[in-house]
Amino acid sequence: MCMDIRFCQPDELERLVALLDNEFIFGKGRAISLRLRFPTVFCPNNLQNIIVCKDGDEIVSALAMRQFDWREGGEYFRGAMIGMVYTHPARRGNGLASRLLKAAASRLHEGGVDFGVLWSRRQSFYSRLGWVADDFGVLGEVELKDIIAGSPGNVTLPALEAGSSLLEEIRRSRLNMITLRRTEDYRQLPLPAESVDVLWCENRGRVAYALFGSSGETGFLYELVGEVSFFPALWQKGCCGRKRIFINDRINSYSCSWLADHTAVSWENQNLAMWLPLSKRVGMSRMAQWYIPYFDRI
Ligand SMILES: CC(C)(COP(=O)(O)OP(=O)(O)OC[C@H]1O[C@@H](n2cnc3c(N)ncnc32)[C@H](O)[C@@H]1OP(=O)(O)O)[C@@H](O)C(=O)NCCC(=O)NCCS
Repeated sequence: MCMDIRFCQPDELERLVALLDNEFIFGKGRAISLRLRFPTVFCPNNLQNIIVCKDGDEIVSALAMRQFDWREGGEYFRGAMIGMVYTHPARRGNGLASRLLKAAASRLHEGGVDFGVLWSRRQSFYSRLGWVADDFGVLGEVELKDIIAGSPGNVTLPALEAGSSLLEEIRRSRLNMITLRRTEDYRQLPLPAESVDVLWCENRGRVAYALFGSSGETGFLYELVGEVSFFPALWQKGCCGRKRIFINDRINSYSCSWLADHTAVSWENQNLAMWLPLSKRVGMSRMAQWYIPYFDRI
């Protein structure tokens, strides 16, 4: 039977999300549908970034993309994350996911996208298709022996989407390499967090913030940016009521160095990121320095 590879149609989205939820979320004992976790990806106006392979009426393979703007110094690039690469269990090993990944790469290239990025433990599968592994990401873990109660008075908890333009101002002025986020990008809910909050500290024009995810008594620190003298208060507030904090960071970032000096963090390298150059503007020597924050990923 002829396999049809094309963009997802509006009436297929619900069925596709159910398949992917079963594979990546509920089938793994996790909570919250992909549709709520990645609302800018699994939505009717992103269907041109969701590729499916159909056999008759059945979706047998799929992948999702999220295009984004990336800035390094004064240069801007267009990137695309690829995630939720899926083939129905009965159809695996027949080259379907490979065909979808090739189709995605050529569509991104034709659309002027400079590079692709994904995160995977199955690196040999992707490297056969031209993807190159290089990762500056580190995962930190801090065990909090006694649950810290109380909270520093100078830390506030503004609504995340409403405060997003202030966060963007800080990110753009402080960080040399960043994903440029729109307000709606702050609705992301990275796995396995069940909520995300921003903690905010401000005094006489000096500001800092921390982006924290939560799942029960476990916290996830995605970003700690701004005035370093506020980091202790943000950290203490982020630790309130938690037994453990995981930290997603880039080797040698300000936050990484501060956490290494002031907390009992233990770090391990991630080695999950893979890159695909799609335009002449980028090459591996350049992309090997890049780090896409965990909060932005799909
Ligand atoms: C990973 C996954 C998407 C691969 O889908 P697939 O359609 O089986 O992929 P392909 O057939 O293109 O390639 C898979 C393997 O079959 C091999 N293969 C490809 N064509 C083949 C063929 N005609 N005959 C035999 N084997 C073949 C590939 O070399 C590859 O080998 P590897 O597992 O050693 O890397 C699928 O296993 C899946 O959905 N897994 C669960 C979700 C998941 O883990 N997604 C990836 C997240 S990063």
